[in-house]
Amino acid sequence: MSALLEVEGVSKVFGGVIANADITLAVPEGAIVGLIGPNGSGKTTLFSSIVGQHAIDGGSIRYEGSEISRLRVAEIARLGLLRTFQQTRIYGGMDCLKNMLISISHRREGLIDMLSRHSAEQVDEADRHLEFVGLYEKRFLLAGDLSFGQQKLLEFAMALMNGPKLLMLDEPTAGINPTLINGLIDRLKRVNEEIGITLFVIEHNMRVIMDLAQHIYCLAHGELLADGTPDEIRGDNRVIDAYLGAH
Ligand SMILES: Nc1ncnc2c1ncn2[C@@H]1O[C@H](COP(=O)(O)OP(=O)(O)OP(=O)(O)O)[C@@H](O)[C@H]1O
Ligand SMILES: [Mg+2]
Repeated sequence: MSALLEVEGVSKVFGGVIANADITLAVPEGAIVGLIGPNGSGKTTLFSSIVGQHAIDGGSIRYEGSEISRLRVAEIARLGLLRTFQQTRIYGGMDCLKNMLISISHRREGLIDMLSRHSAEQVDEADRHLEFVGLYEKRFLLAGDLSFGQQKLLEFAMALMNGPKLLMLDEPTAGINPTLINGLIDRLKRVNEEIGITLFVIEHNMRVIMDLAQHIYCLAHGELLADGTPDEIRGDNRVIDAYLGAH
């Protein structure tokens, strides 16, 4: 059976910069797959290409067996393929609960002025996800007043509101303190095991990604340098030289 997400020979150039060169990888349904690599190696660019934020310059991106590389972001999101951002994208002037409800509006209506139409069930759902990420007590606080780490957790909860099938997380633990990181790893494993959400995770924290992922891809200078199990990646001299050695 083919994988849930198949990236084949994908390239992306920004001006003269080759951000992604001929990248081929696969994310099987139900898996947690990692994406690592030095700063500027093209990880975020690849995520943006997959969710349709920009056109790719070559290659193919298939989701559930269908080509999605020419679809728009909203069309791809409707298929259940969602991402979070390295720099969070929340509405700072609205409270956490409204941020959660607005993420449903985006999905179902494509409009943001639908707050009054949300049902008690949707508010319950929002509360449940806020509780899940540990932000229930903050639900009436302006999202802009959350710490950066809390904003990352809010963004994770907002993504869950949209019932993703494949959730791509860009550095989910950046800015999260060491004690909370263990809780977040646990939550990511739970959404994968209990809700069945496939995860594709960019992460610089090696402890986190080695713990989470069954398979890891490593980029360097826009190219796929290596891939393998956490143990294989840990012992791969190319990865050590290009990335891990610097840690
Ligand atoms: N919109 C853009 N316009 C021009 N260049 C870009 C753009 N987006 C990314 N780049 C360049 O593409 C390369 C890859 O960037 P990208 O953000 O994908 O790296 P990354 O692996 O996510 O790095 P980090 O670990 O620092 O987040 C970099 O050289 C970057 O400067
Ligand atoms: Mg990045």
